Amino acid sequence: MAATMLSHPDHHQLPASKIGTLVLIVLSLLICKLLYTFFTCPTKHIPGPWYTRFTHLRLKYAVITGQRIFYIDNLHKQYGPIVRLSPSEVGIADLASFKEIHKIGSKFLKSTWYQRLANFPKAGLFTMIDPRQHGPRRKLMAGSFARSYLVKNWESIVREKARMAVEKIREEAEGGKADVFNWWMLLASDVSAHLAFGESFGMLESGRPNQFIRCLKKLTMGAGIMAELPLLRLLRFIPIQTIQELFNGNEYIFRGADRAVQLARSATSSTNIFAKVIEDCQKDGENHIDDMDVRIEAMNIIIAGTDTTGVTLTYLTWAMLSHPQYQSILEHEVAQLPDDFTENDLMELPMLNAVIEETLRLYGAAPSSLPRVVPPGGVTLGSHYVPAGTTVCTQAYTFHRDPAIWQRPLKFYPPRWFRTANEDDMSSGTPPAQSPDAKLAFHPFGAGARSCVGIHLARMELRYAVAFFFRECKRMRLCESVTEESMEFENFFLIAPKGHRCEVTLMKGSE
Ligand code: HEM
Repeated sequence: MAATMLSHPDHHQLPASKIGTLVLIVLSLLICKLLYTFFTCPTKHIPGPWYTRFTHLRLKYAVITGQRIFYIDNLHKQYGPIVRLSPSEVGIADLASFKEIHKIGSKFLKSTWYQRLANFPKAGLFTMIDPRQHGPRRKLMAGSFARSYLVKNWESIVREKARMAVEKIREEAEGGKADVFNWWMLLASDVSAHLAFGESFGMLESGRPNQFIRCLKKLTMGAGIMAELPLLRLLRFIPIQTIQELFNGNEYIFRGADRAVQLARSATSSTNIFAKVIEDCQKDGENHIDDMDVRIEAMNIIIAGTDTTGVTLTYLTWAMLSHPQYQSILEHEVAQLPDDFTENDLMELPMLNAVIEETLRLYGAAPSSLPRVVPPGGVTLGSHYVPAGTTVCTQAYTFHRDPAIWQRPLKFYPPRWFRTANEDDMSSGTPPAQSPDAKLAFHPFGAGARSCVGIHLARMELRYAVAFFFRECKRMRLCESVTEESMEFENFFLIAPKGHRCEVTLMKGSE
């Protein structure tokens, strides 16, 4: 027996020639598949790089390296407003098409990318696709995010948190340095968490995110990775703690989110936005929201309301401290406010609001593709037919920098938002933000039925944070650690500064 085994040493191994044949077969199949995709590519008549007829790999590479907005913007510069991104995806930078895709009642629905983004057992407002499901939920949630409701119930909380964030920044920055990226993130997550849960998480007081928020962030990151590379779902079976936190933190998060349910359903004076949602839901017998929905929406509010506002405020601070000519005008403007100023007072301030709009144009935190699917029957966009089922991607990054719409589009120039043009350092002509095209093109909060439900809350946070900051921290300066390079965008759906910090400093004894 042993002799027989010895006489067949390669009993379990394939001979080299067989391996060679196998490789050849696999390669041939791959080439056949690529040729098939190339010739049958449904978007082959749309301009774009040749390789996008075969594969989405170049696009995926841009996504995972945080370069997606730049990659697509460059393709638009090279190939025009309608460009093929992959066999099934098309980039759109044409205003009429943008309007068609995002108008109210549009048949272009959110793509399944949003579904993959949710790591929760049910879809929430952000990830719902079917308008019959989204419409009623949006109606329910919209009441709690209406400006009048926020002003009545939440303005004092937002004001107090913004004041505290600025106090903390000032304390740290005086004679030292404060990282505004950290503080603005804490402000935004404390506000969202307070709204969603009905009690403060006290993160501004402690100076760091609590465990619930840290865990939720990891889970969101894991969901983002899985949305782009679905095969990585398999990683959830690897019993390593860091990986488990990325992909399997649901149970802990849901237990934490029970607090939002308890408070919403309790009859105490402490309440959160879901108390109103549930109340409205009971009035409207058809519309239903169960405990799991409340948990999921509570977490969605924290996810959707944190980095968006925190990053936008960080870029606003950086842009203003890089432009002392506007910083001193704004400091002077907010210094005139009465001590008990309200958001209504802030809405009257020309420079404060212009600075916010200009920041949202150039540095709004969500400038990436908002993928939608072409409805049955296909559609003609620009002069190109785009077949049904194709994903069309419009990105604010490109619309907000289009030289045909904005004069000197790359220049941070708040006065472009003044009602009457201040032409001191712009070429002549109507201020672009008042041209109809600019109004249509400007969409830092998305557009149509799926636009940001938190827009009034976000604007309230931005206004208070900016007012307190430029009132209490006069002549604040950027630290040397802040460079053009450290503030470059890293783009994983949202943008964030590459350096993940933005440090500022204040001379001791500043007014
Ligand atoms: C500067 C801050 C913010 C920016 C730039 C921003 C941007 C956006 C954008 C672009 C969308 C549309 C996404 C799409 O079509 O795929 C969106 C949707 C949404 N945002 Fe915001 N957002 C901000 C703050 C907030 C806040 C504070 C909240 C809530 C607390 C919030 C909650 C939501 C929700 C729930 C949706 C989904 C709405 C729906 O589909 O009906 N956002 N946001």
